[in-house]
Amino acid sequence: MVRFEAWLLMVFLGLMWALPIWMSTLTPQFCTSLKTLEDRLNASLRKRYLKHNFPINYTLQVRYEEVFRLKNISKLNDSADLRDLQELWFEVTDRGIKKILTVLPEKHPTRRKYLKELHDQFILIEENFQEQNPYEGAIPEVIRDIKERLEDTNYQGWRSVTPKSLLDNCYRSMHCLFKDCFVINGTQYDYCKPQHWRKGKETQG
Ligand SMILES: *[C@@H]1O[C@H](CO)[C@@H](O)[C@H](O)[C@H]1NC(C)=O
Ligand SMILES: *[C@@H]1O[C@H](CO)[C@@H](O)[C@H](O)[C@H]1NC(C)=O
Ligand SMILES: *[C@@H]1O[C@H](CO)[C@@H](O)[C@H](O)[C@H]1NC(C)=O
Ligand SMILES: *[C@@H]1O[C@H](CO)[C@@H](O)[C@H](O)[C@H]1NC(C)=O
Ligand SMILES: *[C@@H]1O[C@H](CO)[C@@H](O)[C@H](O)[C@H]1NC(C)=O
Repeated sequence: MVRFEAWLLMVFLGLMWALPIWMSTLTPQFCTSLKTLEDRLNASLRKRYLKHNFPINYTLQVRYEEVFRLKNISKLNDSADLRDLQELWFEVTDRGIKKILTVLPEKHPTRRKYLKELHDQFILIEENFQEQNPYEGAIPEVIRDIKERLEDTNYQGWRSVTPKSLLDNCYRSMHCLFKDCFVINGTQYDYCKPQHWRKGKETQG
């Protein structure tokens, strides 16, 4: 009996400790900075800097894991917490922006007038998020596998994507994963549904 009580206490303490890991807190300050990022990533700027400023049909070679779509989120939803997916979003987005930066010459307008600053802004937001949501739990296996493939130096099976599509996907999944920040006039849109992006003003370009 004593043993059972001790066990119960341990479970209870474990839960108390684990609680902050399950919920990620999006502070008003974090949301404000995420919304500035949203503005910088709006459809017309993405089109100008990530499509028109590149040669027609220009593509980059990326790993499959470097594209983070809405579909990925719904697939991973059962096996990972929101916190894990948000973390993954930060990692994949960071890689995406860096990847585009590596192909841009120093003086390219997309680098100078847009992407470098966007990346700096992004890093600050990421740091702010990590601070407020410190990682204390175990990373689920599915997420660990994805991270491993992202780092795999013998990676096989690259795919070609346009620079714009990398950030289009990042933009949509950001809305899905941080939807509390994107409540408009009290309305919570279902950003996780692909339909949301089909009908709207958001051009897929
Ligand atoms: C995107 O942002 C730019 C610069 O702030 C602004 O001029 C433009 O109207 C915005 N476009 C859309 C579609 O919101
Ligand atoms: C670009 O891709 C589209 C669709 O795949 C193709 O129809 C078009 O001819 C390509 N344009 C150039 C300049 O390669
Ligand atoms: C997203 O899904 C595609 C297709 O199933 C997969 O190849 C890719 O690795 C996934 N990306 C992430 C970040 O999980
Ligand atoms: C993930 O699952 C939660 C709880 O089951 C649900 O509320 C949420 O809408 C799901 N999100 C996605 C993107 O499917
Ligand atoms: C939100 O509400 C205000 C005032 O009712 C309105 O002017 C504005 O256009 C609304 N914004 C959106 C995005 O619907």
